[in-house]
Amino acid sequence: MAARDAFYVTSPIYYVNDSPHIGHAYTTLACDVVARFMRLDGRRVRFLTGTDEHGQKVEKAAREAGMEPKAFTDEVSQRFRRMVEVMGTSPDDFIRTTEERHIRAVTALWRKLVEAGDVYLGTYAGWYSVRDEAFYAESELVDGKAPTGAPVEWVEEPSYFFRLSAWRDRLLAYYERNPRAILPPSRRNEVVSFVKAGLQDLSVSRTSFRWGIPVPGDPDHVIYVWLDALTNYLSALGYPDTESELFTTFWPASLHMVGKDILRFHAVYWPAFLMSAGLEPPQCVFAHGWWTNEGQKISKSLGNVIDPFDLVARYGLDQVRYFLLREVPFGQDGDFSRAAMLKRANHDLANDYGNLVQRVLTMVQRNCAGRIPDPGGLAAEDDELLAAAHALLPAVRAAMEEVAFHRALEAIFEVVGKANRYVDAQAPWVLAKRDPVRLKAVLWTACETIRHLATLTQPFMPDASARILDQLAVSEPARRFPSLGPDGARLVPGTPLPPPVPVFPRLQESAA
Ligand code: MSP
Repeated sequence: MAARDAFYVTSPIYYVNDSPHIGHAYTTLACDVVARFMRLDGRRVRFLTGTDEHGQKVEKAAREAGMEPKAFTDEVSQRFRRMVEVMGTSPDDFIRTTEERHIRAVTALWRKLVEAGDVYLGTYAGWYSVRDEAFYAESELVDGKAPTGAPVEWVEEPSYFFRLSAWRDRLLAYYERNPRAILPPSRRNEVVSFVKAGLQDLSVSRTSFRWGIPVPGDPDHVIYVWLDALTNYLSALGYPDTESELFTTFWPASLHMVGKDILRFHAVYWPAFLMSAGLEPPQCVFAHGWWTNEGQKISKSLGNVIDPFDLVARYGLDQVRYFLLREVPFGQDGDFSRAAMLKRANHDLANDYGNLVQRVLTMVQRNCAGRIPDPGGLAAEDDELLAAAHALLPAVRAAMEEVAFHRALEAIFEVVGKANRYVDAQAPWVLAKRDPVRLKAVLWTACETIRHLATLTQPFMPDASARILDQLAVSEPARRFPSLGPDGARLVPGTPLPPPVPVFPRLQESAA
């Protein structure tokens, strides 16, 4: 049983057949926001990402690049490490499936499945898609292709099978016991119907190529890449050592974040493998949607793949992070468009949030000698704005529980709007001439509200939020969530502030 305050969040591990694109950046970013939020909220967090390096698809890509698979995966895996950095994400570990610790874990897990009597030798005869690394029944094909549109080939070879068919009722009982096992609820319903309809045994080894982990005791077979890949979530905790501090603290995983295309592997096969091996299944698998580019499906053949390095260089890191999580209700599909990206960056960030911070801090600098003013007594309007700021943490926490990033950001930006309207209504530039006492109360209230906002935007926009908190001279420990709310900290009058610097530049149309 994982420790109660512990939170283990994982991204899928990425195939190294190709360079990182917006889809990879999106899943990693989503995990990062959860990880940062939980850390600031006082949880013990472990955030894992990495690369999926075995299997036919990677072997084929290496061959096409004229390289040995190991040298090829070493190189491409590095590009994913760079993406993780460029997206400003903060994993605690980066696993590669070619690592010794992983091979050891997969071999041990395989033995457990065999001991449980869930593995038998047979022959696979059916369709296989190398692009999806998935087996398909004849009845699933659409116009001779996989339901995903990927090409398939006929495969007939000796294969070990996992007795998935025997796990139907135990899987259904697991979903029943854990209402959060699969989110969002629409995806849960899909998986439940799929499992209810009955499950076929799953081929878990291949004999027609070599790039994988050999089946213990039968090296003619390599372990099916999905069984290999899913095990990464255990390898990174030191499996098969299930007694270690790391393992007992963090297993079962709190959240496997995945795209909708790989939900079945995580929500059906993976819990069955785990339960068969005597391990607890994950607490939650969340399936997010897919991005299109200016309304078009993203594909290499259309040449419209969105490069995350390019995106960040063009629009800025915080802007991209904000856009990806704000534009689309998390869980649904979304469209990337240049116009929408610029609108979010300029409207929400530069005009609303940025302008609020800039005008308030500039007035403090000019009218309060660059120090946090003494509020004296507060008026009803001040209390009302502060109450809205204080109510944010519970609201954002509730949204994050549902992995609803868009709702968390909506709640935060509602208070940004409220604060801007408050500043407009109080007109501190008029008070500066007529009522210096009231001016201080208004500026203090506005600064205190901004402190709440910037503390809560940290998981989404770490750099800009840090710069705002620097400008309010908030110390490192005071940036954590316990400092928020009516019982939290308060900005201390007299604290000297550095000169204000704008945080969200306006992007030019030509930036795109
Ligand atoms: N290697 C497997 C995962 C193994 S996890 C044990 C894999 N890798 S992948 O590189 O193909 O894809 C990883 C993730 O990128 C998936 O979550 C997938 O949904 C996501 N995306 C790929 N294209 C995408 C979009 N266009 N939009 C959003 N996410 C997409 O699958």
